[in-house]
Amino acid sequence: MERYVNFINGEWVPSESGEFIKNTNPVNGEVLGEVTVSTAKDVDRAVQAAKEAQKKWALVPAPERADVLYEVAYLLKERKEQLAQVLTKEMGKVIAEARGEVQEAIDMAFYMAGEGRRLFGETVPSELRDKFAMSVRVPVGVAGLITPWNFPIAIASWKSLPALVAGNAVVWKPASETPFLAAEFVKIYEEAGLPKGLLNLVYGSGSVVGNAIVEHPDIDLVSFTGSNEVGAKINGRAGELLKRTSLEMGGKNAVTVLEDADLDLAADGIVWSAFGTSGQRCTACSRVIVQESVKEALEQKVLEKMKDLKLGDGLDESVDVGPVINRDALEKIHEYVKIGKEEGAKLLAGGEIATENGLDKGNFYQPTLFTDVRSDMRIGQEEIFGPVVSFIPVKDLDEAIEVNNSVKFGLSSSIFTADVNKVFRAMRDFDTGIVYVNAGTTGAEIHLPFGGTKGTGNGHRDSGVASLDVFTEWRSVYVDY
Ligand code: NAD
Ligand code: ALA
Repeated sequence: MERYVNFINGEWVPSESGEFIKNTNPVNGEVLGEVTVSTAKDVDRAVQAAKEAQKKWALVPAPERADVLYEVAYLLKERKEQLAQVLTKEMGKVIAEARGEVQEAIDMAFYMAGEGRRLFGETVPSELRDKFAMSVRVPVGVAGLITPWNFPIAIASWKSLPALVAGNAVVWKPASETPFLAAEFVKIYEEAGLPKGLLNLVYGSGSVVGNAIVEHPDIDLVSFTGSNEVGAKINGRAGELLKRTSLEMGGKNAVTVLEDADLDLAADGIVWSAFGTSGQRCTACSRVIVQESVKEALEQKVLEKMKDLKLGDGLDESVDVGPVINRDALEKIHEYVKIGKEEGAKLLAGGEIATENGLDKGNFYQPTLFTDVRSDMRIGQEEIFGPVVSFIPVKDLDEAIEVNNSVKFGLSSSIFTADVNKVFRAMRDFDTGIVYVNAGTTGAEIHLPFGGTKGTGNGHRDSGVASLDVFTEWRSVYVDY
């Protein structure tokens, strides 16, 4: 059985704990390999290596640092298919989506490599004679990255690439569910010639390894993507330690469909963004806010498309919906479906754990559609993170905006309409970090800032140039001459 170990100071080493845990395939429970279980001591070794390496890396000109990122980009491109296969096998998303995710990492690598030649500062006119005033970006130091399983390479790329190009070193804890792809990504950095100690991979639980990263005095910033529950804990503790944090958390994203919309287009957008990745995207469409006059017509179109969705092993190109990540997730989703029924929502499709044709060996949930959901119901407010979508009828755009903004999250929203005035109204009034027009709620590209308002984040962004604000400090310099 293949064994996966930490990467610390340029060497692949098991944890001093000597313990390993198994990683399984969510399609059938098959054991795929074993992973070292790390301790706080492993984190400390990784941080010391990172701290030492960062001192030299900060002195390397940014365009030279960027050269390593170009190598990373070319290697990712060359291995796209292999990486996508590993991703589907350990996490379950269908192979077409896995390829799309690896492509996001490729795009990000090329994009951030370019930023190595654009780490711009500013020069401004001084108020005084014979004085020069300018600002420069400087690295923060050692960045602790804590990432989730649902986008195991994309999110790792959104964080590690800007961190490194800006002159930081990294200690990375990937989610326990997706250790193999993490190793493949680190191998690429190693082959690309990243000097030792700059990227350290430490496997282990959130409570031990994640916590040790947050607590370590030589970790200068923590960039976290994951659930609100964990993000809030990290934020609290990092706040006490006066440590910089970037938090990207949950969503309760909505597609709004108005009566003048192209309903076929809207149905396509809803099905893709609600059931893609089995609803386990932070941007997944979990609510459809629909104008009453077209509610039934839209429901019929979505139900028709749902009939064609094939569940199964994502490595099979004909499969549309893979498993959810594990048994706990499956049970949590089913619990929400029970809650929805108790709250009086009308179940139009799905609503059960899928067991037919051998699906009982894995973690499969039927694509599920509720209608006549009220916005204040729990299924209208809480993140389910599974293939469950709720239709909420409204009378007009004003009410749609109110419902869209009624949740504690603010990641992604979308509007389907043919009226340009309503488009601009939504663009202004939807309180989310991302707004789509005539498309579903998923599919963000890496060139723009990615993240959300309200309970989704703390004002920082992953990806885009905005991500450099997480990984650099501004230094203002005044020169008298
Ligand atoms: P999670 O919060 O359970 O875990 C995320 C990471 O935090 C993992 O690496 C985990 O091991 C670690 N962790 C757990 N407890 C910790 C602790 N006490 N201290 C430090 N680290 C700890 O989330 P998940 O289940 O992996 O991912 C799903 C969640 O992530 C969803 O809520 C989803 O919406 C969110 N997400 C958000 C975005 C975004 O950009 N907004 C993107 C993807 C996923
Ligand atoms: N790019 C992914 C999406 O927007 C995260 O769904």
